[in-house]
Amino acid sequence: MGSAHRIGVVGLGVISRVYLETLAAAPDAEITAVADLDFARAEAVATGLPAARALSVAELIAADDVDVVLNLTIPAAHAEIALAAIAAGKDVYGEKPLAASYADAEAVVRAAAAAGVRLGCAPDTVLGTGIQTARAFIDAGEIGRPLAATAVMATPGHERWHPNPDFYYQPGGGPLLDMGPYYVTALVQLLGPVAWVTGAGSRLRSERVIGQGPRAGEAVPVAVDSHVTGILGHATGALSTITTSFDAVASTAPPIEVHGEAASLIVPDPNNFDGAVSVRRLGSADWEVLSPLAGIAGAARGAGLLDMLRTSDGAEPRASGDMGLHVLEVMAGLLESAETGSRVEIRTSPQRPPLVPLA
Ligand SMILES: NC(=O)c1ccc[n+]([C@@H]2O[C@H](COP(=O)([O-])OP(=O)(O)OC[C@H]3O[C@@H](n4cnc5c(N)ncnc54)[C@H](O)[C@@H]3O)[C@@H](O)[C@H]2O)c1
Repeated sequence: MGSAHRIGVVGLGVISRVYLETLAAAPDAEITAVADLDFARAEAVATGLPAARALSVAELIAADDVDVVLNLTIPAAHAEIALAAIAAGKDVYGEKPLAASYADAEAVVRAAAAAGVRLGCAPDTVLGTGIQTARAFIDAGEIGRPLAATAVMATPGHERWHPNPDFYYQPGGGPLLDMGPYYVTALVQLLGPVAWVTGAGSRLRSERVIGQGPRAGEAVPVAVDSHVTGILGHATGALSTITTSFDAVASTAPPIEVHGEAASLIVPDPNNFDGAVSVRRLGSADWEVLSPLAGIAGAARGAGLLDMLRTSDGAEPRASGDMGLHVLEVMAGLLESAETGSRVEIRTSPQRPPLVPLA
């Protein structure tokens, strides 16, 4: 394992488990250190990892045997951890959103560029066969000129299953900042960067009740909109409408539909890597399921980190900080527009990353 990328993981909660599994199966990656505000949790995780030891966050960031910091903390801590790691000269890959605010995210991207370190950001689900197949089909001209898309994420809220759901209802959380990264990143992959947005939001309940775990029955306060909807004007002129809600008992709406001059597509859940893409061509009475055309088959969270590690020096990772910043600017713009009632122009305009070959 002498040449393996040496990874330090900060934040060892719910989502860390799948990352640990992905990295354990990657021959070119090795976790050398783990840290959490809860040191006992870090010690417990380290016992299951052959090459890792438990450290404080500061020790991990300073450690000589950590090349890359994997930041799996809560959104409010993303920027602080990323900036400290960048200042120590480490590459950083983090969970979404890139930061809890656009200003913080911009500071992270600037710091990484100035330090010459690489910055990656979830979601990496868009590198799976679901979104990549839809994109390959659109890029090949199969639906004609793309005109519009709809994206719907409607659930009753994560407090039903997450043992500590407080952060979902605090600034940096809410259905848009939590789940929107999957949908907005997918829409940018499919239709290109966004030039302007308008949004609206509501928060008709002041508290939510935890459904499971040691705190079941406890109420958590709501400080953010729990239903956010809006319009994304893509630079091409195509329009996407998006709804993200923690206020819906259930929905039958497809996660994403894309409409072109010649065909409409149903795109699978961008929170997953795989899933069937269906096409209905103009004049046809039936939906046809596409065979996978592109993307990493059977991938799991951590694929974006591995893509970053395996990308040659100087090349932008596919799940990049620049994409994370654009997606956050779009989401912050939707929330700003919801508050002011005005349309918000989007300044960032990242290149779409190269299509992922079918693997
Ligand atoms: N839970 C999911 O299904 C899921 C899915 C995809 C992405 N995510 C994202 O992953 C991130 C983490 O979510 P989670 O569900 O694992 O949360 P969690 O609350 O279960 O775990 C977060 C962990 O980070 C630690 N932590 C918080 N602040 C820290 C700091 N400053 N320094 C060190 N450790 C700190 C906490 O002690 C905790 O162990 C979030 O950004 C979330 O949006 C979660």
